[in-house]
Amino acid sequence: MIRYILIFCLFLPLIVCKGSVHVSTSRGHRTCTVTAHGDEQNDVPNILTAFKKCSKKSTIIFPEGEKYWIGEKLHARLEDVDIKWHGTWLNHRAGFILSGDKIRLNGYREGGIDGNGDAWYDEDKGSSTEGRPMPFVLWNITNSKIHNFQVQQSQFWSLNIMNGTNLAFENITCTAFSNNAPAGKNWVQNADGFNTMDARYVSLNNFLYRGGDDCIAIKPRSYDIRINNITCDGGNGVAIGSLGQYLEDSSVENVTITNAEVSYYDSSITP
Ligand SMILES: *[C@@H]1O[C@H](CO)[C@@H](O)[C@H](O)[C@H]1NC(C)=O
Ligand SMILES: *[C@@H]1O[C@H](CO)[C@@H](O)[C@H](O)[C@H]1NC(C)=O
Ligand SMILES: *[C@@H]1O[C@H](CO)[C@@H](O)[C@H](O)[C@H]1NC(C)=O
Ligand SMILES: *[C@@H]1O[C@H](CO)[C@@H](O)[C@H](O)[C@H]1NC(C)=O
Ligand SMILES: *[C@@H]1O[C@H](CO)[C@@H](O)[C@H](O)[C@H]1NC(C)=O
Repeated sequence: MIRYILIFCLFLPLIVCKGSVHVSTSRGHRTCTVTAHGDEQNDVPNILTAFKKCSKKSTIIFPEGEKYWIGEKLHARLEDVDIKWHGTWLNHRAGFILSGDKIRLNGYREGGIDGNGDAWYDEDKGSSTEGRPMPFVLWNITNSKIHNFQVQQSQFWSLNIMNGTNLAFENITCTAFSNNAPAGKNWVQNADGFNTMDARYVSLNNFLYRGGDDCIAIKPRSYDIRINNITCDGGNGVAIGSLGQYLEDSSVENVTITNAEVSYYDSSITP
């Protein structure tokens, strides 16, 4: 019986097999497709298998409608890989670090990460506790593109470049607002939108942040950063800062921001 299911799974992975990694090769190009288990079962082992088997010159697919349970933190290193990220990662307690070269990640305006931040905002009620994970960190990454992607209800800084060169972001949405805070109270702390540090040649085009902290924060050693068409809905707007906070070189050079709309939203739904 198991053998038949296995054979079936090889041919119809998306229909039949929940919680699988399907690897196929066509003209020397590998594709890894990951489906979610559901029922809050940890999908990280399968996702890591896909990141390993399709780590170079490959395509990784998270199909539409799939909801992955990120039960532990994970780090991917990829080289010349397309990630077609239609599904959603639910990672309340664990962060994700992406490293490598020539990574092209597309979320098709539907895919992304949902941090279920309310669980943390409710607990913190405006103070900031230790140990909140960062949902999406780009570290030691070069020549990569992130398009049409969302980080929703982030537990901490939403999209955080820690060390990267030549990166292009387009059509990015980050949200971090409390659904439970009383009117006029800000429960959301340290849930910035887009952050850069040790970053060079970074462009961000078409960005929407809705939340209670920095929409964009340009941090030490950020150079040649071009930002265009951003909407910051609530929060502190754009910060070029935390510069004196560190002892090392904390210079920032050549940051251009065009077409920015920064607004408060209705106080009855202030984060
Ligand atoms: C950074 O990435 C490059 C390749 O992209 C790799 O050769 C190098 O080992 C990485 N450095 C660290 C500290 O992981
Ligand atoms: C990481 O940061 C260091 C120090 O600023 C820099 O020399 C290096 O080029 C950075 N790496 C990447 C991939 O941007
Ligand atoms: C970004 O969104 C616009 C539509 O608002 C679309 O025309 C454009 O192709 C998108 N960019 C990418 C890189 O997909
Ligand atoms: C600017 O960005 C917003 C998303 O914040 C998008 O809806 C809009 O289409 C963008 N405008 C242009 C001209 O691309
Ligand atoms: C400023 O940064 C842009 C890229 O964002 C780059 O094209 C330009 O050459 C830089 N200008 C200087 C003076 O370094």
